[in-house]
Amino acid sequence: MKVCQIETPALILDLDVMERNMAVMKAFTDSVGIRLRPHYKSHKCTSIAHMQMAAGAKGLCCAKTSEAADLVRAGIEDLLIANQVTEPAKIAQVASLAKCCRLTVCVDSAQNVRDLEAAAAVQDSLICCLVEFDIGMGRCGVATREEVLALADQISACPHLHFEGIQAYAGHLAHQTDLELRRQASGEIEQALWKLRRFLEERGYEVKEISGVSTGTAMLRSENSVYTEIQAGSYLFMDTAYNALNLAFSNSLFVLATVIRLGGGLLVTDAGLKSVSVDQRPPVFREYPDLPIRFSEEHSTLVADRFSHAVGDRLCMVPSHCCTTVNLHDFFYFVRGDRVVDRVPVTSRGKSL
Ligand SMILES: Cc1ncc(COP(=O)(O)O)c(C=O)c1O
Repeated sequence: MKVCQIETPALILDLDVMERNMAVMKAFTDSVGIRLRPHYKSHKCTSIAHMQMAAGAKGLCCAKTSEAADLVRAGIEDLLIANQVTEPAKIAQVASLAKCCRLTVCVDSAQNVRDLEAAAAVQDSLICCLVEFDIGMGRCGVATREEVLALADQISACPHLHFEGIQAYAGHLAHQTDLELRRQASGEIEQALWKLRRFLEERGYEVKEISGVSTGTAMLRSENSVYTEIQAGSYLFMDTAYNALNLAFSNSLFVLATVIRLGGGLLVTDAGLKSVSVDQRPPVFREYPDLPIRFSEEHSTLVADRFSHAVGDRLCMVPSHCCTTVNLHDFFYFVRGDRVVDRVPVTSRGKSL
């Protein structure tokens, strides 16, 4: 089937471009000696997770317990939930999943450590823990090295938990468009994390992993980076928000739309807010990159004097935020050139538990 025959609105993934993005990331991480643990939140697709493993990823990370369950069922054996798991039912599920794979979670409270240990004891499983350190994002994580040490001490005293290292995600820098500001702030974070690492090592801890880093800051790492793992997700697909940073990755993800009305200075398509997210900057049509899009639930509308398209033509929208756009679709259409090569479920679509 040809791409122009796909029923729309539809999520299109250009495999050639995605594979190039994977290769660029792999070459970079190899060159600086940091392992890649791609973030599942961007694609929520176990088939793509396996493509990333085949391309050299050490494992996956994800945001949600329900995503972790899908990944474990699909045979991913090294998994980080890059978040705190605090509800009893989810903690019990994590303890059970830890019997089937090497599972790591982030912690930032003593109560959470106690709850994880109790659940893992019931299952007789081992849960690895990264203590989350807030390096300026102001979301999760403890703020001082003394708090990190106290949690490391507590984890180390638990027979069913293992202290693995630090989670340090600087999400506040991910979309900083000024390269110098991004570079300088990333450097300061590296210094702060080196200090934290030395502080823990001087107290007898092996800090095996320091995990974090987004698509926007991945390439600022060097051979001397304190990070051992990069958790980037969007590098696979890119979007208009990340395009503003002029990174080494290209757009592989599009929303295919059909022109359903033309006239009176309007071009209207069938892809609206239920097919593309607008939580970051606005998406654009590849064919009309300079025209702002007016959205409603089921429609997107362009306004201009002349259009070079006709009713029934297909247009390609470049999402502004790939991760939230993917979550609106049941399937990816994998394409090469103008051919459809597969239709693959977005396995964990809508799973936010
Ligand atoms: C914990 C965590 N790690 C990594 C990322 C990086 O994702 P991306 O590369 O898509 O910016 C995110 C983004 O939300 C995140 O929350």
